[in-house]
Formats: sequence, C-alpha cells, structure tokens
Amino acid sequence: MNNIETLIKAAMDAREQAHAPYSQFLVGCAVENADGALARGANMENACYRLGVCAEQSALAAAQIAFGLGNVARLAIVGGPLQAAEGTRGEPVMPCGGCRQAIMEAATLSGRDITIVCCDHTGQERVTTTIKALLPSSFTLPPA
Ligand code: THU
Repeated sequence: MNNIETLIKAAMDAREQAHAPYSQFLVGCAVENADGALARGANMENACYRLGVCAEQSALAAAQIAFGLGNVARLAIVGGPLQAAEGTRGEPVMPCGGCRQAIMEAATLSGRDITIVCCDHTGQERVTTTIKALLPSSFTLPPA
C-alpha cells in the first residue's frame, strides 16, 4: 500500500477533474490495492441531476478495470465546495449511502474490510474508518 499522503494526494488530483457544475461540490477519490496500484475517480454530474455519479463509484469502476473490485484494500475521499475560501478547511466528506453499498460490494468480494480515509478539500481534515463501521448490517444476497 502507499503512504497515506500519497493516497490522499491522488484523491486531490482526481478532484481537479470533477465535473460538478450543478452542485459546485467537487469530490475526488483514490482507490488502492494491497500492492499500491491506484485507480482514481471524480464526481461527474449531468443536466438530469439525479443521474450524476459520485467520485467513489467513478473510482471503483476504474479500480474494477485496473486491478479488480475484489482487490480493493483502501480508499481516500477528498471533497468540498468549488468556492471554498482561501486558506480555510472544511468537514471531511463521508461517502453517501449508495457509495457505501458499492464499497461493501468490493469488501464482500475480498472477504476483507476496507479502510476509508475521508477528507475535506484540503486533505488535512481527516476521519479514518472502515466500510463495516459505516454500513453495519448491510444487505447482501444469499449465495446462488
Ligand atoms: N458526492 C460524491 O461524489 N461523493 C459522496 O460521497 C457525496 C456526494 C457528489 C455527488 C454530487 O455530484 C455532489 O457531490 C453533491 O452532492
């Protein structure tokens, strides 16, 4: 795995690619596997507001192609308003409910918990947690 600063920097770089003209709330996400391979994503909105894609799901889709969902070990999320005042920090962005279910899918595939580092837009305000802590008693399908 990478140094945590490297992972957060990757999420901050991804946030630069966010397409969020409607909410003006920019989010980036970086996903890594146990070997330190990285996949990144950013939120991607569209004119039909409810069809926008969150940064986490964008990054998970990239991870699926790069190294497989079942190899996701840790992810960092960085987010905040486009117009955040210079030099100010914000609140860490916690993954939305839908993204928690998507992250849990990766954890179910590997049989391991996934660490999630939630950050504000500066990457300095941080909350570190896990998907099992954020989504207890989660829905899973019975084995086929
Ligand atoms: N957003 C994310 O990308 N991830 C989250 O976990 C929370 C919300 C995005 C969706 C939308 O483009 C914008 O932030 C405002 O909700």
